Amino acid sequence: MVDQRSIGVVALLYLLLLLLFEFTFEQQVQLQQQRLSSGIEFAALFELRSSLGLRSRDWPRKVDPCTTWNGIRCENGSVTSINISGFRRTRVGRQNPQFAVDSLVNFTRLVSFNASKFLLPGSIPEWFGQRLVTLQVLDLRSCNVSGVIPLSIGNLTNLTSLYLSDNRLTGQVPSTLGRLLSLLVLDLSKNLLTGSIPSSLFSLRNLTSLDISSNSLTGSIPPGVGSLSMLQSLNLSSNRLSSSIPAQLGDLDSLVDLDLSSNGLSGSVPLDLRGLRNLRRMVFGNNGLRGALPVGLFPAPSRLQVIVLRNNSFNGNVPAVLWSIPELNLLDISHNNFTGQLPNSTLNDNATAAVLNISQNKFYGGLTTVLRRFSSTDLSGNYFEGTVPDYAQVNAFLSTNCLQNVSNQRTLMQCVSFYDERGLSFDNFGRPNSTEPPAPAPAPERGSSNRRTIILAAVLGGAGLVALLILLLLLVLCLCKRRSARNHRGVDVGAVPARETPPSPGVEINFSSLGDLFTYQQLLEATGDFNDANLIKHGHSGDLFRGILEGGLPVVIKRIDLQSIKKEAYLSELEFFSKVSHPRIVPLLGHCLERENEKFLVYKYMPNGDLSSSLYRKNNSEDDSLQSLDWITRLKIAIGAAEGLSYLHHECTPPLVHRDVQASSILLDDKFEVRLGSLTEVCAHEDGHQNRITRLLRLPQSSEQGSLGSSTAICAYDVYCFGKVLLGLVTGKMHISASSDTQMKEWLEQTLLCISIYEKELVTKILDPSLLVDDDLLEEVWAMAIVARSCLNSKPSRRPPMRYILKALENPLRVVREDTSSSARLRTTSSRGSWNASFFGSWRQSSLDVAVNTAASTTRAEGGSSFKHSGTTGSQGSAQNGGGDHSSSRRRHSREICPEPHEPQQDIERQDRD
Ligand SMILES: *[C@@H]1O[C@H](CO)[C@@H](O)[C@H](O)[C@H]1NC(C)=O
Ligand SMILES: *[C@@H]1O[C@H](CO)[C@@H](O)[C@H](O)[C@H]1NC(C)=O
Ligand SMILES: *[C@@H]1O[C@H](CO)[C@@H](O)[C@H](O)[C@H]1NC(C)=O
Ligand SMILES: *[C@@H]1O[C@H](CO)[C@@H](O)[C@H](O)[C@H]1NC(C)=O
Ligand SMILES: *[C@@H]1O[C@H](CO)[C@@H](O)[C@H](O)[C@H]1NC(C)=O
Ligand SMILES: *[C@@H]1O[C@H](CO)[C@@H](O)[C@H](O)[C@H]1NC(C)=O
Ligand SMILES: *[C@@H]1O[C@H](CO)[C@@H](O)[C@H](O)[C@H]1NC(C)=O
Repeated sequence: MVDQRSIGVVALLYLLLLLLFEFTFEQQVQLQQQRLSSGIEFAALFELRSSLGLRSRDWPRKVDPCTTWNGIRCENGSVTSINISGFRRTRVGRQNPQFAVDSLVNFTRLVSFNASKFLLPGSIPEWFGQRLVTLQVLDLRSCNVSGVIPLSIGNLTNLTSLYLSDNRLTGQVPSTLGRLLSLLVLDLSKNLLTGSIPSSLFSLRNLTSLDISSNSLTGSIPPGVGSLSMLQSLNLSSNRLSSSIPAQLGDLDSLVDLDLSSNGLSGSVPLDLRGLRNLRRMVFGNNGLRGALPVGLFPAPSRLQVIVLRNNSFNGNVPAVLWSIPELNLLDISHNNFTGQLPNSTLNDNATAAVLNISQNKFYGGLTTVLRRFSSTDLSGNYFEGTVPDYAQVNAFLSTNCLQNVSNQRTLMQCVSFYDERGLSFDNFGRPNSTEPPAPAPAPERGSSNRRTIILAAVLGGAGLVALLILLLLLVLCLCKRRSARNHRGVDVGAVPARETPPSPGVEINFSSLGDLFTYQQLLEATGDFNDANLIKHGHSGDLFRGILEGGLPVVIKRIDLQSIKKEAYLSELEFFSKVSHPRIVPLLGHCLERENEKFLVYKYMPNGDLSSSLYRKNNSEDDSLQSLDWITRLKIAIGAAEGLSYLHHECTPPLVHRDVQASSILLDDKFEVRLGSLTEVCAHEDGHQNRITRLLRLPQSSEQGSLGSSTAICAYDVYCFGKVLLGLVTGKMHISASSDTQMKEWLEQTLLCISIYEKELVTKILDPSLLVDDDLLEEVWAMAIVARSCLNSKPSRRPPMRYILKALENPLRVVREDTSSSARLRTTSSRGSWNASFFGSWRQSSLDVAVNTAASTTRAEGGSSFKHSGTTGSQGSAQNGGGDHSSSRRRHSREICPEPHEPQQDIERQDRD
């Protein structure tokens, strides 16, 4: 009995043991599958590791690659996937990077090799096609690969995805690619491929995405493309394809995204495209396409979101259905010959907020409610007439039309003749025809054209007179308003004249010069949904974020919240960038205006930030000490900023005033080259003609000094602010360029006392203590201080013009080393005299000057125009400089002799506009 029981226990124990053993055995088998079991592959991985120079952080020694290495995946003890996308190499590996992947041949089960964004200079080895036959995914995007695509690639018949974009591949698209029948994705974009599109590609029946954009392909688009029935995305843009769009494209009924832009395509758009019912994005811009759009091109249940036909030669009317596609968010048909009127309403007044660009066409008639559905419109360069309804005033560019009460419109002549040619009557800008001419004779009669000319002349004459009167009236009103405003608010007035008058909605903006059009989605991705971690600062014209675009380009994105910031601010910045581009102005890379309440501008990223933040930077070492910019760099920055301002003041017509010159507006690239930023305040220089006209009208006149001293819309205001920046560079007290309180005024007075043309050593009292300068450099510092002092003259008319400041900063030693007693001789012999004079003239006049002033003023006129940066003739210079020029300095010479170097800063200008 007892025996029986013990046998039972033993049996039970045995059973348990058996179970346990089975369990651990299974586990071991599993582990063996996960671990790398092939010694050859193990060796091959280490071979690869060293030939590519990978870091042990990614691929550590002494551990199992399958379970621990980044980017390695295994199955059944073999490597199936190697992903080194974006890996960094070791320092040694970086020194001589090569396309050294020979050991890949030893992975017999490799399915995927992804080396995108990993530098592999060299060409794709021929043996890839012979040996890597198990491969399904080959991703060599942005690897800096060159050479031709080997024919043998066609042997990789199990490939489903082949990505070779963004390299320097040359030669033709190999026709052997047509053998890759499993291929789903073929991306050869952004290379240097030539030749035509091989028709063998069209046997790739399972292809869903074909991208050969941005190469140099020639020839036509073969009709065979129609057989790629699974294709969802076809991008052939930016090549040199010619002839017409094949009707067979219409067979691609899975197509979602079609981009044929920027080629040399011609002919008309085939009607057969209407079969593309799934199409979301249709981009045909920048070709030579012409003719009318077929009425049935966009069938009613269209899902199109983006239609771009810009810059072709389309003509005729726009099919009505185009205005009411429900999901549309970008319609750009600008720069064509489209004509007709806008429809009166759409089926979908409340459809998605969208962007409409129909600029530079021949649309006419009134603005209609169809514009309601668009959150941003560019209607410029058409012949629209009538008044601008409320809904068309927001985010609308209206210039160069025939609209009422909008600036920058076409002339009456242009409008009348456009409407006349079409047998329509023009509303004459809403003004009654003063001469009340009879409507064009119903029946043609002799001399009718003659009479028409007379009527036209009468109308024009009448309108001209009216316009002249209105102009005078406006001028008088404007002047009175400014004076009364000044009386109310003290000095600080009329400061921003451009803002007092409501800015016309018709700002003239040329979108093609504003960089790329970004989608909101792209910007979200670039900035991590505008993550606070990417916020650079809250600027007064918007929040600045840093971001990385898809291609890896770092950018700065300004988010402008229209609920807190005036629309005009960004519009005027856009207008500025559409007209001005200069190496000293921060480059605008693009914009995104698709959202109603938020607008975005995208700028190039400036690695060294702005001057206010980079004058001092934390030392890398532990002691936390501050390192400051050396003198050579400071001088370079001063010259760079002066070049930028000089360009705005002297080379732009009309001259532009920056109005926000301070350290934080001076951006610095990786080489500390200056790029001016903060451009929302820029406006045209308020020219001196007004003063002359007021004098003519004998209106009571405030003193020249008062009116110029308070206005920020004059170049001399920039000069004053620039003076503070210069002083900041000398003293290291950069923050003063951004403040204007009384403390700053006191500090300024004290500091200016230490700047004397007679005594170099005085300047050491205010010198930035962190600057180590020897005697030679001290002279340059002294010179910059003197220039700064001239800029800070309390009388705007006595501040030197920017081009002279530039000249002086470029030759600082001449500012201080010129023999002062022989200044008179200098001024009559060289152009140098004029800029020298403009620094010393205001506070160190000798009686000699008076004696020679006649001679001096004539030579100065010559000298002024010989400067490289003047770019303008002497006459224009005198109009814009408000007094630094020869004509007014002559007046000054004879009127006042003022040897006293110190002038208290009585009317220090307002600076902080926030
Ligand atoms: C592949 O493995 C074999 C056997 O270990 C070896 O002889 C050969 O050198 C390897 N090839 C490469 C390119 O690493
Ligand atoms: C290609 O894929 C098929 C199916 O997955 C497979 O049977 C075949 O062995 C693969 N060819 C090669 C060369 O690996
Ligand atoms: C691969 O392709 C090349 C050229 O297309 C051909 O000469 C070669 O025989 C092929 N190799 C294999 C292993 O199929
Ligand atoms: C193409 O796709 C179909 C359906 O997915 C599939 O059955 C067929 O095998 C694929 N053809 C090739 C050559 O891979
Ligand atoms: C529009 O048509 C006119 C005359 O028909 C032609 O001169 C002009 O070049 C065309 N413009 C565009 C953008 O095609
Ligand atoms: C829109 O309606 C107005 C009157 O309501 C009419 O004069 C005009 O011709 C219409 N425009 C179009 C394009 O139908
Ligand atoms: C848009 O219009 C449809 C009818 O056309 C209406 O049912 C819907 O509520 C509207 N949506 C909004 C957000 O106004």
